[in-house]
Amino acid sequence: MKFLVINGVNLNLTGLREQSVYGTETLADIHKKIAAFCENAGDNVEFFQSNIEGELVNKLHEAFLNKSFDAIVLNAGAFTHYSYALRDAIAAIDIPVAEVHMSNVHAREAFRNTSVLSSVCKGVICGFGANSYIAAMVALKQ
Ligand code: DQA
Repeated sequence: MKFLVINGVNLNLTGLREQSVYGTETLADIHKKIAAFCENAGDNVEFFQSNIEGELVNKLHEAFLNKSFDAIVLNAGAFTHYSYALRDAIAAIDIPVAEVHMSNVHAREAFRNTSVLSSVCKGVICGFGANSYIAAMVALKQ
């Protein structure tokens, strides 16, 4: 399978910001872990990160128009909670998208309990740190 892993706003600072919530592994460390998992499973993976909402929308459109990926794993960061633009982009494409979060968003502030993306995603995984991405890939494969 060919996976696209998209990380949204502030996730470039993973490992440096709010370490008590997100841990000390950097996004590069997490990408390495995911890449190793995919290599072992015989899958391909590409990574994209942006803090800019429109760039995330463009990436989803590009994946759809180029038919370049079988499945997408998306951690949209705080955009999850209010971006109708991302929601519509996910709804517009015919590639299954898994919503992931490293932290358990349901055990945190009330505003994180709402996702405007979940209802247009294939499924949601949260609370398992870097393993949230890998669990989503296992589920998407099956
Ligand atoms: C997050 C959870 C979001 O609420 C938050 O805004 C993030 C990261 C997570 O991976 O736990 O930036 O998506």
